[in-house]
Amino acid sequence: MEVNKKPSMEDIVSLCKRRGFVFQGSEIYGGLGGTWDYGPLGVQLRYNIQQKWWKMFVSEREDIFPVSTAILMNPNVWKATGHVGGFNDPMVEDLKTKKRYRADHLLEENNIDPKGMNVSDMDKIIKERKLLSQDKNALGDVRQFNMMFQTQTGAASDDSSTVYLRPETAQGMFVNFKNVLDTFHPKLPFGIAQIGKAFRNEIAPGNFIFRLRELEQMEMEYFVHPDKWEESFNEMLELQKKFLLSLGLSEEKIHFVEIGETDRAHYSKRSVDTEFDFPIGQKELGGLAYRTDHDLSSHSKSSGVDLVYFDEETKTKVVPHCVEPTFGVERMVLAVLSDAYKEDVDEKGETRIFLKLNKDLAPNKFAVFPLLKNKPELTKKAREVFLTLKKEIGNVVYDDNANIGKRYRRQDEIGTPYCVTIDFETLENDTVTIRDRDTGEQKRIKIDEIKDYLIV
Ligand code: GAP
Repeated sequence: MEVNKKPSMEDIVSLCKRRGFVFQGSEIYGGLGGTWDYGPLGVQLRYNIQQKWWKMFVSEREDIFPVSTAILMNPNVWKATGHVGGFNDPMVEDLKTKKRYRADHLLEENNIDPKGMNVSDMDKIIKERKLLSQDKNALGDVRQFNMMFQTQTGAASDDSSTVYLRPETAQGMFVNFKNVLDTFHPKLPFGIAQIGKAFRNEIAPGNFIFRLRELEQMEMEYFVHPDKWEESFNEMLELQKKFLLSLGLSEEKIHFVEIGETDRAHYSKRSVDTEFDFPIGQKELGGLAYRTDHDLSSHSKSSGVDLVYFDEETKTKVVPHCVEPTFGVERMVLAVLSDAYKEDVDEKGETRIFLKLNKDLAPNKFAVFPLLKNKPELTKKAREVFLTLKKEIGNVVYDDNANIGKRYRRQDEIGTPYCVTIDFETLENDTVTIRDRDTGEQKRIKIDEIKDYLIV
């Protein structure tokens, strides 16, 4: 019987560590805030999610051109886009401990909605209401804090060598607009897409892999004729929905939220955020923004290179507008894990935890066991079956540790859809038992039929 338990963030963190999905970054040195490392199962889950995005947003379509661009970019990129002056978060400092807080988060914690407020509005409210830090100390003025990480190129470390770790993958696509146009000659509308790392010096990283300093984005810049942006905006919103449902996420936990003018990013004329019911509440998972010609026009002006599209039909030049669907990889991993986390109680009254992952997302598709570890004829046959499946499918695991019940529990917790057991009957007629993760049901099937289970 499935128990309708909403997992807490602690449940997810504990499972991720216990079973090798996600570890604290640089753990043996006490960690580094906002960084996490992926273990063998986490890396496979991430990859499976990325592959699904890639298929739906890139390889299934003929109008999308994938790129993979450098993390370090000419600093003029970030001056042109307004990130050097404007990629800020409102920050307030505890005057005693010097600990820094996001001013908008502090207001939310005090049941004040910061939507639509600028820095001076937040400053005024914090002072009027005499709000204190989490350590109950007085707070300083609210200031803007630029979130871009800076580093230096070359040996000299002066202002002229300052470069930034990209805070979004998007600009790699905008600066390659002309390259794609000149080499592939696409017609509008067309998109440039990539999956890649981005870096943000978050004031308060936290909530496990939700708010990070090093993250990965799956982004597409879809270039459209300025008169047709609404059509493409709606198409991309539909595509985002289709993608989320294809991951098996519960529809009722997905929310599309129209963002008001004052809360939109500086470049956006319309934004619809995708929010999800995470264990920490309804929060942003992705977004869709109508970036107009903001980026191409800013880069044309700043670089002196004409970033225009020549419309053969009307024989006119046009600066395309851009619609941008984006998702964070780690937030998607968290959404998938927290949605799949289930508990049930068996006939003996024992609770089991299992990950009800879609088969195509599960890190391992099959686990193969010999019924008994100390019978060479069983282990020999089990290894044979395992190695054949491993060659054909790849993500298959062999387990002969402890008793069969414990092996089932282990595989359930990592979301393996099927466990295959080799027993004495296998030696006689080449049949095995196959157990379903979600129902616990077991069937006897032929060895040849095992891999059909992936398409059922
Ligand atoms: N190019 C547009 C852009 O970067 P964004 O809303 O700032 O838009 C896109 O970021 C997505 O990246 C977010 O919806 C979220 O999933 C993810 N993301 C942003 N900041 C993040 C952070 N600090 N930690 C984890 N994921 C983050």
